[in-house]
Parts: sequence; C-alpha cells; structure tokens
Amino acid sequence: MSLIQRPKGTQDILPDEARGWQWLEAQSRRVLSAAGYGEIRTPVLEHTELFCRGVGEATDIVSKEMFSFERSERGFTLRPEGTAGVVRAFIEQGLHRLPKPVKLFYLGPMFRYERPQEGRQRQFHQLGVEVLGIDTPLADAEAITLALEVLSALGISNYQLSINNVGNPESREAFRDGLKALLAPYLPQLCPDCQRRFELNPLRMLDCKVPTCQAVYQSESVQGFLQTFEWDEASTASFNELKAILTHLGIAFEVDPQLVRGLDYYTGTVFEISSVGIGAQSAICGGGRYNGLVQTLGGPETSAVGWAMGIERLMKLITPPEKSGLDYYLVTDQPAEALKLAQTLRKKGKTAELDLTGKAFGKQLATASKREACHALVLGKEEVETQSLQVKNLKTSEQTTVQQADWLASF
Ligand code: HAM
Repeated sequence: MSLIQRPKGTQDILPDEARGWQWLEAQSRRVLSAAGYGEIRTPVLEHTELFCRGVGEATDIVSKEMFSFERSERGFTLRPEGTAGVVRAFIEQGLHRLPKPVKLFYLGPMFRYERPQEGRQRQFHQLGVEVLGIDTPLADAEAITLALEVLSALGISNYQLSINNVGNPESREAFRDGLKALLAPYLPQLCPDCQRRFELNPLRMLDCKVPTCQAVYQSESVQGFLQTFEWDEASTASFNELKAILTHLGIAFEVDPQLVRGLDYYTGTVFEISSVGIGAQSAICGGGRYNGLVQTLGGPETSAVGWAMGIERLMKLITPPEKSGLDYYLVTDQPAEALKLAQTLRKKGKTAELDLTGKAFGKQLATASKREACHALVLGKEEVETQSLQVKNLKTSEQTTVQQADWLASF
C-alpha cells in the first residue's frame, strides 16, 4: 500500500526537537508574563470574513494564501495570522471594557498556502503580542524592546531591527498615488506580480525580490520619493519620538523607507527584525501599530500595536540547554511493585523510568547505562520480600542495599 505523507510545507516535530520548542515557549512565556502580558488562545478556525475585513482583500495573504472552505453558508478559514482573531476576541469577549492597555500574547499554528521553501511553510507557528488601547510611541518602544528581550532570553543576538512609518490612511493614499505616478512608466518592464500589485496594493511592489524590479525601486527617483515623502504630522511626530526613545535605550535600528509590511491594517510605525544566517527568509519578527483594526472589525475606536515571530525561524537560531538527565532506571522482574516505586519517586520530583521489557537483569542494566541514568534501582523478588532495594550508582558502579522506606524518607 502506498505511504501517506504529511502535506507539503508541514512538519512533524519529534521529541528531541520538541524539547527545544518547549524551552523556547517557556522562555517566551517567562519574559512576557514578567512584563504583565496575559496569554490568549483563540480558535485556529475563524470565519473567512474576519481576515478579508481585517487583513485586507488586496493582500497576498487573503487573495492567494488562505486555506478556506465552506461548511455552511459562512465560510471558514484556518487562521493565516493571529492579530485578527485576537482583535475579534477582544471585541466579542468585552476585553475593551477592561482598564487599558490590554496586553496579550499568543503562541500557536498559522496557515498560509505559500510555495513551500526553506523558512517558508504552509503550517508554521507564531509567538505574538498585541497591546490594545494605547497610542503612544512609548508603547511602540515597549513592544519593540519586549521582542528584543524575548530574543535575548533565547540567546539570539545577531539581528537587525528596521523601522518605518506608513502614516495614517489619508497620507498613505497620497503616498500610494505618488508611487503609482512614479512607477507607471516602468510598468511594462516589471514582473507580473508587480503589475498585479500596481492596481491592488502598490506599496507591496517595494517588497518584490525580482532583481529587475528592485533595480527600478532602487533608482534615484523612487528612492528620492521614499526618503522625502511627507507623512501626516501625528504619525511623523510619533515616529520621531520612537526613534528618540530607541536611541536613548541604546537600541540599534535602521530606518528602511521600503519596509511596508504585507498586511493592510498598519497605521504609523511598522518594524521588522531580521536575522543573518537563516537563508532568504530572514524576517524573524514583524509588527507595527494598527489603530483602525478594532473599529474595522466592529469594535470601539481603539489604538493598538503588536508583533509576531516565526517560531520555526527562531528554532534555527537557538541552542536549547541539554536534556536533563534521568535520575533512576528501575531494573526489575516485579513490574507491579516497580511501577508503584516509580510513581512514588516521580511524586517526589525525581525522574524515573521503569524497564518494561521483562528481559534479564543484565540487559536491563545495559539499557539503564544507555539511557544515561544516574542510578539503577534493582527490585527483584528478594527485594520485594524484604522491602529493600539495590541502588547502583552508574557513574562509580558503587552498589548499596537500602530499606525502601528509609531510603524514600531521605528525600
Ligand atoms: P507577518 O510578518 O506576516 O506578521 O508574520 C510574522 C512572522 O511570522 C514573520 O516575520 C515570520 O517570522 C513568520 N512567518 C510568516 N509567514 C511564515 C511562513 N509561511 N513560514 C514560516 N514563518 C512565517 C503577522 O503575521 C502580523 N500578525 C504580526 C503583527 C502582530 N502585527 C501586529 N500584531
């Protein structure tokens, strides 16, 4: 019979690797909880409309990459990102009535129907934060520093922080028009994707990886336009203040006028953190301010800022601590008694495994060594009858016979 394989762009995470994931998750939870962020878990499945309205019909994510299906009159979609679902829950669950800001984080799988390649999967995982109900450059700075704190807790230091301002919706409209006027003469020489984006989402043209398109976007006239465009006063003032705070904190950053992000909900400050050494897909974190999304999704006017990191990409950059050793391996031909003893040891906080094979003691002892246990505990018929136990130190080979009750009482 033919083998059934996992879908392209998905991954099985086996126990050795899952240990690294657990460590990454624990470190992130620790940093975010210490800063007063509470975890939110929203469904993987949402109504398609949420992303059409939230992320934007013209974005690549919504127009090309969603896993959507019909089961009833309303369509469903496997979430391609976390922000829209968090904002939906914020409104639906009345979190907007809580004292502001509401500080949330999440961890979980996201789904995008992209062409799978190194660093780009169809099911991937994000760690994200959303801060709702505050519109200050300090909140933007806190969000950015929190991302850097997470990276530092994970031992990641080789990265680059880029920031940009994408203005309020009105000034973005003017930016879009100016960019289109500038790029119109070059349209025939641009790639089909850029030609499509020209009408739908011209800002995204700047992200194109095709060298001939980039040559146009790097030209003096386009760069001049990007560098000198005047965004609205409020977002400019906020962006300048953010730069001052980051400088004050000694955080290195570059202003990248080409950083436009792939989701429509951003207003004002946007940022990305990229890392060297993980291939072409180098963005490990992306985020920004999105002051209109809560209203777009039917809630009260609420400012917000947030970011998300790709966990698979982070995994390539971390070295999780070594697996902690096994305290005891139980060598036995008295399975019921041995199981009881293993349970008692685990209740006392020790790690204990029990040989389940029923093989000869010699073979079981060899397994104990292979498992790199500190001690083997030999529990045979005689030990059960006398309520004793042989404790063998596998490093020194020293062996002692103890009374079970006394020995267990000693820790
Ligand atoms: P995003 O830039 O689309 O932003 O995704 C954030 C991060 O998720 C990326 O920087 C990358 O590390 C990872 N990522 C995205 N797509 C893939 C993929 N196909 N395979 C592997 N990793 C991937 C958002 O999703 C926004 N919701 C972030 C945000 C939160 N903005 C405000 N709040």
